[in-house]
Amino acid sequence: MNLTAIQNNYLLRLSLMLLGLLLANNTIAQQIVNGISLPDVLTLNNGTKITTAKQWKIERRPELIAFFKKEMYGQSPGKPAGVTYKVFDNDSKALGGKATRKQITVYFNGKQDGPQMDILLYIPNNVKHAPAIVGLNFDGNQSVNIDLAIKMSTSWMDKTKGVVNNRATEATRGIDAGQWPLEMILDKGYAVATVYRGDIDPDFDDGFKNGVQVLYPELQNRGDNFATVAAWAWGLSRILDYLETDKAIDSKHVAVFGFSRLGKAALWAGATDERFPLVISNESGAGGAKLFHFKGGEGTTRLDTKFPHWFCGNFKKYMGQDSILPFDQHMVISLIAPRPVYVASAKDDTNSNPEAEFWGAKAADPVYRLLGTSGLPANQWPALSEPSVGRIAYHVRPGGHNVTDYDWIQYLSFADKYLKKP
Ligand code: GCU
Repeated sequence: MNLTAIQNNYLLRLSLMLLGLLLANNTIAQQIVNGISLPDVLTLNNGTKITTAKQWKIERRPELIAFFKKEMYGQSPGKPAGVTYKVFDNDSKALGGKATRKQITVYFNGKQDGPQMDILLYIPNNVKHAPAIVGLNFDGNQSVNIDLAIKMSTSWMDKTKGVVNNRATEATRGIDAGQWPLEMILDKGYAVATVYRGDIDPDFDDGFKNGVQVLYPELQNRGDNFATVAAWAWGLSRILDYLETDKAIDSKHVAVFGFSRLGKAALWAGATDERFPLVISNESGAGGAKLFHFKGGEGTTRLDTKFPHWFCGNFKKYMGQDSILPFDQHMVISLIAPRPVYVASAKDDTNSNPEAEFWGAKAADPVYRLLGTSGLPANQWPALSEPSVGRIAYHVRPGGHNVTDYDWIQYLSFADKYLKKP
């Protein structure tokens, strides 16, 4: 860089910073959370304070959804008109007779050579019309259990153990079973439906040439393009579309779950698709439940540079602006209100910043309270393994970035409380 370029760069940064400070201090109403100033979830962009549930529903919620679609996640299409389903497996003696296993290919445009995803579904045999938990998986459907009948993924996969030439091998069967305790979930009376994230959109910066985005060219090459996290969230809604056609499932009681980057997607799916009556975000971190305004852990710069495909083009303009952003993730969590949401952290998961995840959930509390619910009871970051459970729930457990039995025990009792029919 020559001197003029450096000077220009410096001036640009300075003016962005001043603009940010101006917005933060003057124009945008603030809400203070643990001493940190955040943009107020309950004030409209025109400065009007939201004081009724009706105003929230009719004015603020749509305003926030439009904002996040434009500036962060990008636009998403609706349900594809020509979608077809093919149930290619239906075995009532799965997992030692505990469950019925179904596998379904979803052809998004009805074409067998078009974009498609495979749903792996286990339904408890002793429950008629079972409530369900849906979530995407990291390493292919075959990774969630050693069940030999699970179809081996043939989609592109990042290089992890057992992946050769970006394709899964038998060595990946059951590798994520610890994160998917199917028996425990089924024993509690819930069906489980999962899809490999890469069926919907492969997790690399490919210019959106290999995911479902190819079906929607009109949503590409624009600032608010249909990006990867939004595509995964869209895929979660498409699983629910299928479940609505399956009589064995109580499709009005389907919770959406996700871990880490897939927890970011679960939150956005819950925020935008009100058919999900309960949402679980396990260590979703930056772009999930974590507040960007809090110091520590991943921020916009790492998200935008290491994972540029996750969020839309417009999101890049906020790079490095974490502490002065005109929005933050408490607003996304608030979009789920009054539906129950569980946000969970792990103490050593510093990249996700557990405390900032807690305050993300807590800062959504005013919206839950406005809508007449219990919100999040804890007023301070709780001690380890002491869940705080209201209509917003939160826990931080010892250990690192993972999904453990401890996490699932909390989620299932949360679901028993809020999801099951009385
Ligand atoms: C990376 C990334 C996180 C993400 C995580 C995961 O660590 O920085 O944002 O949540 O991967 O998905 O496991």
